[in-house]
Amino acid sequence: MTSRGRVLLSALVVLAGSLGLLYAQAQKKPAIAYPLGYRNWIHVKSMVIFSKENKLFDRFGGLHNVYVNQIGWKALRLGSTFPDGAIFVFDLYDVRTYQGAIEARGRKFLAVMKKNSKLYPDTGGWGFEVFPGDQDKGSLKDMKACFNCHSAQKRRDFVYSEFAE
Ligand code: HEC
Repeated sequence: MTSRGRVLLSALVVLAGSLGLLYAQAQKKPAIAYPLGYRNWIHVKSMVIFSKENKLFDRFGGLHNVYVNQIGWKALRLGSTFPDGAIFVFDLYDVRTYQGAIEARGRKFLAVMKKNSKLYPDTGGWGFEVFPGDQDKGSLKDMKACFNCHSAQKRRDFVYSEFAE
């Protein structure tokens, strides 16, 4: 190869490398932070999913509490579209039945939805994340798996929970 050819080739390699980096950065979205203090937010509702009769049993069996932050709370009350910054937490515990009671026994995971319409246009403007057990680091690989189901709630801006008065 001539030296001109070599220079051209290395220029191409550098260009391809930087394009790749740019692409990777464009794909990478900031992680959704652990929702610190969510137990002081507004409690929306609770539910126990205890048998296979419920189609969510395999994935979400147990006792869950749903919480919403102040930004989301206003929209939930008014039934309006959620503004950026709205956060929902789905806090799931394992259960055991004991002497006629159903008790919560250890956290399975925290599932979080955070509204940011600019960051998450492909999933209805919501970012989804899962924090297993008591970990504060998210582990979700693909938000689409969450959105595929939540998309059925389009008329309520992709949220299922209704406030239990
Ligand atoms: C197969 C359907 C399905 C899938 C998949 C699913 N969800 Fe949900 N999700 C629900 C239902 C139903 C509720 C409402 C539960 C209730 O009424 O107590 C819910 C509630 C929630 C809530 C509380 C806000 C709301 O919409 O009610 C959050 C947060 C949440 N899910 C996050 C996630 C995350 C994160 C994932 C992906 C890891 C996920 N969900 C996957 C069905 C699903």
